[in-house]
Amino acid sequence: MKTTRLAFQILILSLFLFALVTTPISHSSTAPNVEARVNALLAKMTLAEKLGQLQQLDGEGTGDFRPEHVDLIRKGLLGSTLNVRGAKKTNQLQRIAVEESRLKIPNLFGYDVIHGYRTIFPIPLAEASSWDPALAERTASIAAAETYASGVRWTFAPMVDIARDPRWGRITEGAGEDPFLGAAFARARVLGFQGRDYSAQGKVLACAKHWVAYGAAEGGRDYNTTDMSEQTLREIYFPPFHAAIDAGVGTLMSAFNDLNGVPTSANPFTLTKVLRGEWKFDGFVVSDYTAVKELINHGLVANDRDAAQAALNAGVDMEMVSRLFNQNGPDLLKDGKVSQATIDEAVRRILRIKFRLGLFEHPYADEATEAGSILTAANRAAAREAAGRSMVLLKNQNDALPLNKNIGSIAVIGPLADDRRAPLGWWSGDGHDDDTVTALTGIRNKVSPQTKVSYAKGCEVLGDSSAGFEEAVNTARQSDVAVVFVGEAKEMVGEAASRSSLDLPGRQMDLVKAIQATGKPTIVVLINGRPPTIAWIVDNVPAVLEAWMGGTEAGNAIADVLFGDVNPGGRLPVTFPRTVGQVPIYYNHLNTGRPPEASSRYNSKYLDVAWTPQFPFGFGLSYTQFKISNLQMSAAEITSNGSLTVSVEVMNTGKRAGDEVVQLYIRDVAASMTRPVKELKGFKRITLKPGETQRVEFTLGPEQLGFYNRDMRYVVEPGEFKVMLGSNSEDLIEKSFQVR
Ligand code: NOJ
Repeated sequence: MKTTRLAFQILILSLFLFALVTTPISHSSTAPNVEARVNALLAKMTLAEKLGQLQQLDGEGTGDFRPEHVDLIRKGLLGSTLNVRGAKKTNQLQRIAVEESRLKIPNLFGYDVIHGYRTIFPIPLAEASSWDPALAERTASIAAAETYASGVRWTFAPMVDIARDPRWGRITEGAGEDPFLGAAFARARVLGFQGRDYSAQGKVLACAKHWVAYGAAEGGRDYNTTDMSEQTLREIYFPPFHAAIDAGVGTLMSAFNDLNGVPTSANPFTLTKVLRGEWKFDGFVVSDYTAVKELINHGLVANDRDAAQAALNAGVDMEMVSRLFNQNGPDLLKDGKVSQATIDEAVRRILRIKFRLGLFEHPYADEATEAGSILTAANRAAAREAAGRSMVLLKNQNDALPLNKNIGSIAVIGPLADDRRAPLGWWSGDGHDDDTVTALTGIRNKVSPQTKVSYAKGCEVLGDSSAGFEEAVNTARQSDVAVVFVGEAKEMVGEAASRSSLDLPGRQMDLVKAIQATGKPTIVVLINGRPPTIAWIVDNVPAVLEAWMGGTEAGNAIADVLFGDVNPGGRLPVTFPRTVGQVPIYYNHLNTGRPPEASSRYNSKYLDVAWTPQFPFGFGLSYTQFKISNLQMSAAEITSNGSLTVSVEVMNTGKRAGDEVVQLYIRDVAASMTRPVKELKGFKRITLKPGETQRVEFTLGPEQLGFYNRDMRYVVEPGEFKVMLGSNSEDLIEKSFQVR
């Protein structure tokens, strides 16, 4: 009797847990009477007050609010600010909104908390290298708590743009080139920032951006045009946004780019047909910074008034920084160019989110607890762990790594060895350079007291001078090993930081060559925000570690990995090209009629460089080795709405515990639209002790097997599918199954 009851309880609990993880997250249940409250408020608002809610204005660079905004807020003519932060400042401004404005609607404070507020975590591209979405959820949740403590309730993150072009500086802000991995990280980050109820203390409203295809900027030049098929949009660029919405994201940001001739900040197809019609998104859309005004430069409209009309009617709800909705709204309404219903709907969406956020109940930050909630030891520890899990070991000949902590002497060389700025990366929130642990400090913290650590900068990141080479070379000569830290400066990545070359800037490559020429064992550590072209290093230096821009605790985490306290388990979320001329180069490309494998001249390749990448998508080594074998499928044949499980055995065949990231790819061999040669459809990062074996299982069903056909219908077509499993996108074992 007892056991039946227990079984029943377990069943109910599992059903509940299943429902919890599978139900799209809805906030309507957590915030009562939202719609009624929104409508009641709306009924009382003047047109000016309504347009005020559609306006967001920028504070000062210092985090202060602008004095001229006080009056706007008092009059109810400003609904949101960006960059104003700090409990005291936000409270000061909020008091005016809540106590002095007619309708007492709280101001919504927004800020770019992309990978940390004060405790800075690895850049998002790095965190994606962890292939561990739970990690990103954790760091986003810490970032949210710090953000909340500072009075900011809305982050313009996650940035979920797919980026196939490393010239684009903003590749650093996203999860790389793949929609499946990108969707997993989008979901995790939204959950980290918002939780399941973003009115909870310590949670903030998230914003999936930039809607959409901003990452496909032609030539990798920021803000540039994008032009692509609807299939590519739906299959490559949409999925992370869809995942963010599934996870309950409250807002989206419309982008800067033109998309197939209609700029994304005035694009009815993306903003209304897809977002509202197909996906039923009921949060609000904020334009990117002055993107509404920029519709004039795009040549979509000739003047401010038409810009406001185009953006509002297409589905932008809140205008960031330019003020065209406000300035032209009344006329547009009077002339019937924008309807009352359109304005009301935009206001409704914004108020809905303000209510869901609990802003009316808790408009203020707690000034007493702010300082104690930020940059805590626990947050720093999490940043260190995140950075360690994000690093990718690219080469390790003859076990050059890990180093011994008792080594006699070590030369720490390079312009980024003791740089406090670069590790914070672009969008480093309220992070302070002084908080950064550099690699030099991290190494000093790690080695035994007897080890001699010498440092020489060698050169700057940028510039022509090799004046420091001699000192650097001498330092290397006098040491048992040289570790060279090269890469990019903070300002070389992020927004408006496109590059036409992916080579190490300045004299850094020459510095590496000079150190390598000493004959001392040389290790290169990369501190950078995009895939670099480093063929010479890969060919000549025994060990290369991609450490990315690792955040506040980067230096300690680098030392953890260099000395083996952390066994690197990261994998590349983006293809590393050999040369910039190969770009765009991404793993999930279509095949050609003349695939490059063929040996004749007349096939799809280059005359002057291999067609293959330097490092494929998903690549990364470990201090141990793994064997992936024994691929099993639960069926050799399924129906088009059926599913099957696929599994492999993973064994740690080396001598240390370590992490393998098992990756599953499929190929739809022949279909009515040509399909990519490989598509990631599953992954799992696991930890195995030496000698340990684990079977890792994935499920494949319609969600993984379908595509958008010529009629733009999502279909699973009959025929052969290949399923490929392994440790990166090239090192795979495979089998086939049939869809009937
Ligand atoms: C412009 C950037 O494109 C966007 O990502 C950011 O959120 C806004 N500026 C606000 O800072």
